Amino acid sequence: MASSADEFEASAACLIGKTRPRFFYIADHAVYRLWKNKLAFIPEDSVFFMDACEKNKSLGTVEKIIAFLIGKNACRNDILVCVGGGTVTDTGGFAASVYMRGIRYVNIPTTLLAQADASVGGKTGVNFGGYKNMIGTITQPSLVFIVPEFLNTLPPVDYRSGFSELVKTALIQDKDLYGSIVSEVSACGNDIRSVGIGKFVAAAVKIKLSVAGSDPTEKGRRKILNFGHTYGHALEEHILSEGGRIAHGDAVSIGMAAAIRISMESGCMETEDTERVISELSGMGLYTECPVPLTSLKHYIAHDKKTHADGIDFVVLLAPGRAECRRISLEELDDLAARVQSGYGKRHGKPVRSNALAGFVQNDMAGGMDK
Ligand SMILES: NC(=O)c1ccc[n+]([C@@H]2O[C@H](COP(=O)([O-])OP(=O)(O)OC[C@H]3O[C@@H](n4cnc5c(N)ncnc54)[C@H](O)[C@@H]3O)[C@@H](O)[C@H]2O)c1
Repeated sequence: MASSADEFEASAACLIGKTRPRFFYIADHAVYRLWKNKLAFIPEDSVFFMDACEKNKSLGTVEKIIAFLIGKNACRNDILVCVGGGTVTDTGGFAASVYMRGIRYVNIPTTLLAQADASVGGKTGVNFGGYKNMIGTITQPSLVFIVPEFLNTLPPVDYRSGFSELVKTALIQDKDLYGSIVSEVSACGNDIRSVGIGKFVAAAVKIKLSVAGSDPTEKGRRKILNFGHTYGHALEEHILSEGGRIAHGDAVSIGMAAAIRISMESGCMETEDTERVISELSGMGLYTECPVPLTSLKHYIAHDKKTHADGIDFVVLLAPGRAECRRISLEELDDLAARVQSGYGKRHGKPVRSNALAGFVQNDMAGGMDK
């Protein structure tokens, strides 16, 4: 990173092609404290600090960011730099996209999830009414600076969470990449942290940019990037509504496993592939079992952004590296989920326990979402 504001801002302005913009920053407070030396180029009087959690990914925070920008007389030529994980880049990107009908923004992602996924592609947004990302825009960042070194301080849960989104990207689009991830994790004794992550982040970003770039407004192919997110988001919303927390990527890996099993139940995926992929996901330390019955999440699924009058756009996996989006009715999806659920009982020799959620629910209400 740059050693001074002048150095950073001059090169960013040059890359963006803007003359004399002013830069304002929104930064994850925890990251700023941990990386004060590396982030010393951020002038303290130009930064809005945010505590990264789903509760703060809200319109309330956006209002505060906008008030901060107004207080600084930020104008349409100015640039907002978002430093943090997906919570900060989603919220900051959204604030930038609506402030004065849109100013430019730059992402400096500091989590694996944000580096491999959230900071690119242009989806910005906040949660609303207990539902994830209900309000948002698709607005591309002008620049994304990926600095792998930030990952050194990432807690294990957030590392696993990001790894899960990275695996998702490979699984839907690139069989060879998926295979390399699986073999490298296995060669590292199933320790995802020992895997040389840089090349996988670069590959995931390339895929995301190509898929999202071919369909920026998500009318077609881009929908496959939502693989695992139907049940993933529903589970996340359910757990957050109970005042608990689950890392986004953990919810997504559970959602991917559900989608893979639903793909098999609906005849899209071979049983052998299904079992192998689920076992590989779990071998990499990713969660694959839903702590609540999938059918109990249907209320959230009915409010999913992918739901239409005649059904939901559900992403099925045909085989590793090949995904497809299909419109299916909510009744059919629920029926498939019930069949997967009965398989869960068989796999575990017992029905899902109602307190299986306990592992994810903590007493810290700060993690929940406002309803
Ligand atoms: N826009 C998109 O395309 C997209 C894609 C996937 C996910 N998302 C969104 O991203 C969000 C999740 O993002 P996330 O997983 O990055 O979570 P996050 O931003 O909430 O960060 C997770 C935790 O890691 C900490 N942290 C961040 N960087 C750190 C570092 N370098 N060292 C130590 N700690 C660090 C944060 O303080 C926080 O406690 C969700 O809201 C999800 O909906 C968006």
